[in-house]
Amino acid sequence: MSRVSGLRSSLFRFLCICSVIAYSVTDAKAGITSSFVRSEWPSTDIPLDDEAFIVPEDPNAPQQVRITQGDYDGRAVIISWVTKADPGRSVVFYGLSEHQYDHHALGYVKNYTFYNYKSGYIHHCLVDGLEHDTKYYYKIGTGDSREFWFETPPEIDPDAPYTFGIIGDLGQTYNSLSTLEHYMRSGGKTVLFVGDLSYADRYEYDNGVRWDSWGQFVEKSAAYQPWIWAAGNHEIEYQPHLGETQPFKPFLHRYTTPYLASKSSSPLWYAIRRASAHIIVLSSYSPFVKYTPQWTWLHGELKRVDREKTPWLIVLMHVPLYNSNEAHYMEGESMRVVFESWFVQYKVDLVFAGHVHAYERSYRISNINYNITSGDRYPVPDKSAPVYITVGDGGNQEGLAGRFTNLQPDYSAFREASYGHSTLELKNRTHAFYRWNRNDDGKQVPTDSVQFHNQYWASNQKRRKHRHLRMSSHIASC
Ligand SMILES: [Fe+2]
Repeated sequence: MSRVSGLRSSLFRFLCICSVIAYSVTDAKAGITSSFVRSEWPSTDIPLDDEAFIVPEDPNAPQQVRITQGDYDGRAVIISWVTKADPGRSVVFYGLSEHQYDHHALGYVKNYTFYNYKSGYIHHCLVDGLEHDTKYYYKIGTGDSREFWFETPPEIDPDAPYTFGIIGDLGQTYNSLSTLEHYMRSGGKTVLFVGDLSYADRYEYDNGVRWDSWGQFVEKSAAYQPWIWAAGNHEIEYQPHLGETQPFKPFLHRYTTPYLASKSSSPLWYAIRRASAHIIVLSSYSPFVKYTPQWTWLHGELKRVDREKTPWLIVLMHVPLYNSNEAHYMEGESMRVVFESWFVQYKVDLVFAGHVHAYERSYRISNINYNITSGDRYPVPDKSAPVYITVGDGGNQEGLAGRFTNLQPDYSAFREASYGHSTLELKNRTHAFYRWNRNDDGKQVPTDSVQFHNQYWASNQKRRKHRHLRMSSHIASC
């Protein structure tokens, strides 16, 4: 071998080694722990006399107006509101044009006491038989009443585009208000709410007042588009020292869900279909082990999912199954052991949770071989597994969970302790764009952006060589 060819050979080997190193670096999926921490406002509730809670002057005008989906497929809404002075008439007038209400629906009214608090009259009214993809105007009660509108979703279709917002642990501070106002500018058409609504339970003796203020706080969004409710620990309100032993009492009186439409036996766990999504809501604080009603229902509901019609399978719960924050660390482990193998088997796309007051997104990983008593206890990459997203960063009075575990686990793709909300834009049966939007100096900043490929269609049609999610995270302000 000549000296020149020897040099060429060495140079070639060097370049090969360099390219292997470069490829490894590019291909590595190192997670990001963002050092950015944003807590713009103090973690205290907005005073009750603030305009954020302003109610109509008429003491018996409907207030705290909100809607949620009323059936399985999005052709019905449940409209809820409160009248303070007397029950009035529980009726909703609605139609296709403003000020012209050709139809009406009758609701029912209920109230409750909690220690020394007596609620107003809480109305719930099912409006069904609606057309898909249509704007309806509605007014509540008789006389010169308040008027609102909502839009029904498109017909169930695998390629129906639709945008959801995801909010958790909202509360009623100025940070909460910032989150809510940013969400309202996001283009989201329905809120997936992952539990812990008002934090009224922090007011032990007059918590109903803060339930009322929160109802008014979210009205500017919730009266015009459905909020899909999951319950959190702050909804439990089990307080035997006050004589209150019925769990979820204020929440269940005030907030309704269409649980019967999905054959559930409890309003705390249920499912809806909307556009191209099948959304399953679970209760972290209701029994879920084998043979319990929730376990049995979920077993059946997963079999009813038809990915040919609703390709996007999304699960909501309050307590995250994967969380590398020191707050609430491993609290979701028992539910993970029970349900995770189903999530992998049925190729759930996304699992959204709250509870931890920070943001975190996982890679597609699973730990189904580990059942607490045996197996390898560390999660592994799994292309059939969901992405787990914690978005408990709505901005409540308890403040941020600012301490992540020192080493970011391999399963954690992105984490940051700031307030914000997420949006999920379903584009068609194969693609969705997801963003987490940090509340940043009064501006909405897309901070963690990911393109998701559908778990059913991407793998079934082998449209892509790499079916894994493609990550395009970036920190906008860096
Ligand atoms: Fe919580």
